[in-house]
Amino acid sequence: MRHVTALLCAGVVLLPLAVVAGERRSFRPGERWPDDQGVHINAHGGGILDFEGRYYWFGEHKVAGEIGNTAQVGVHCYSSADLYNWRDEGVVLPVVKEDPDHDIAVGSVIERPKVIRNPKTGKFVMWFHLERKGTGYRTARSGVAVADHVTGPYTYRGSFRPNAGVWPRNIRPEQKVTAEVAATHSFSGGDLPDDPDRLNLIARDHEGGQMARDQTLFVDDDGAAYHLYASEENSTLHISRLTDDYLAPAGDYVRVFPGRFMEAPAIFKHDGRYYFIGSGCTGWAPNAARSAVADSIWGPWEELGNPAVGPDGALTFHSQSTYVLAVRGRPGAFIFMGDRWRPKDAIDGRYIWLPIRFRNDRIEIEWAEDWDLGVFGGAESR
Ligand code: GAL
Repeated sequence: MRHVTALLCAGVVLLPLAVVAGERRSFRPGERWPDDQGVHINAHGGGILDFEGRYYWFGEHKVAGEIGNTAQVGVHCYSSADLYNWRDEGVVLPVVKEDPDHDIAVGSVIERPKVIRNPKTGKFVMWFHLERKGTGYRTARSGVAVADHVTGPYTYRGSFRPNAGVWPRNIRPEQKVTAEVAATHSFSGGDLPDDPDRLNLIARDHEGGQMARDQTLFVDDDGAAYHLYASEENSTLHISRLTDDYLAPAGDYVRVFPGRFMEAPAIFKHDGRYYFIGSGCTGWAPNAARSAVADSIWGPWEELGNPAVGPDGALTFHSQSTYVLAVRGRPGAFIFMGDRWRPKDAIDGRYIWLPIRFRNDRIEIEWAEDWDLGVFGGAESR
């Protein structure tokens, strides 16, 4: 209890007014965000599952120092009824300590975990970006883990590069040929020659599967789930449908934003349209966010520019997107979730949650020091 006050009023002792320790009624982006134990929430690059009246926040557990940029602990989960106050549900997918060669061994990279629930199997399915220990960012695979209960434990099922042997819907015949430059070079953000199509990275990786780094999951109204991942040396995003059990790619995907080096994908649906938020490709350093809209998840996607407006908008308020949360019971209410990375002391990374506004067919995100769900207007309906 923060304080317990007995009020004496006209000779009548009223019930004590109790305020639960640390109880929050607003979001304060960028500040330390204590959980129910008073510890700064440790769920970076996270996403949220809304399940049976509670929100479940899954993210990367980071430790102090630069070593915290690698997975030393695993995927952490928190739950909340109101989005302001979070209960620590523990580490739901631990790294493997006993086997240094395991995919998810201590020191591997487990980034941007997202969990969705499959209505048919009742299973909770987690996808994340996996880099095997010591490979830098060259593994570029997707890892999958499954649980019977939302808070785990999650059982690791394996990793792969998605869509091996499958061409995307929008491939052109000339792109099916591996250009020599793609076969012999690797690329990092912004490092592509003028015409990225010439590289045909998609052809280079056709057989072994497509590179998958920053990623997210999205479940559409009809129950179809999609995996969005930064592919082709981060130059191009893929949107890939999952099988009915959500455990694997269904073999149906599309390339979007070719050569635009977009990562940190987040997606949501509003009034029948799909909105995308992502970032440019500058590692832990913030850059200007990107946004786009489409009438079909398969595109065409129309870029809408940087949705972050006002002071510091050019650097997305020193953050990078990770998820967009649809607030339960408030149609049209969406929260941008970003990470303010602290690569020198990873555990101290901060969370930038801000309301999304729809304006003139665009989306906008404006800085707010301290805000609550009241900004979305109207009363909450359950
Ligand atoms: C960022 C990416 C992060 C992490 C980082 C490593 O671009 O969004 O998830 O991979 O690079 O430098």
